[in-house]
Amino acid sequence: MKNVQLYDKSFKPYMSYEEIQKAIDTVAEKINNDLKDEHTPIFLGVLTGSFMFFGDLLKRINLECETCFIRLASYEGTSSTGQVKQLLGLTQSVKDRNIVVVEDIVDTGGTINELYKLLKENGARSIRIATLMFKPGSYKGTIKIDYPACSIPNDFIVGFGLDYDQIGRNLKDIYVLDVEETERRKGINIR
Ligand code: IMP
Ligand code: MG
Repeated sequence: MKNVQLYDKSFKPYMSYEEIQKAIDTVAEKINNDLKDEHTPIFLGVLTGSFMFFGDLLKRINLECETCFIRLASYEGTSSTGQVKQLLGLTQSVKDRNIVVVEDIVDTGGTINELYKLLKENGARSIRIATLMFKPGSYKGTIKIDYPACSIPNDFIVGFGLDYDQIGRNLKDIYVLDVEETERRKGINIR
């Protein structure tokens, strides 16, 4: 696989579509098993980044369940602003319901922390967290991340729903920022 160029940055291949699918198989199996005796859970996708993971995960869920989405944002460019904005709130009652949050990536934990509080305030009975990617080295939260499909270092990644300034979400594999190649390209002024 080749590098991809997104605006001013070059990204190198990190995880293939096939590897991602295998990781999703594993978390789906755990969730199916852990929730088999729970009453109709709600899978709550955090938009926009989780859309691909959400679809692939839900195809493997064999429980009676509901689905719902919320839209939050905390990132600008390649770093967290620390402020979590609610762009689309809860559209469905979570009172006394078992919730499985489906995230693209848990980085500092700011987003998940805000969402957890919101779900608690709205009376959720249980809250579990599934995430495609988890950065344990940068996580500052205390909430347990129940289902991380993959744990990764603190590098910036794109693809499979994850973006760099809103582009790159459509890539079917995951790529990581290639600092050297980005610098080299800047030097010779190509994009
Ligand atoms: P947190 O609030 O710091 O945990 O950040 C969570 C959000 O930041 C994620 O849902 C993503 O939208 C975004 N994010 C964090 N790390 C990355 C990354 O490596 N690539 C793309 N987006 C990221
Ligand atoms: Mg997100």
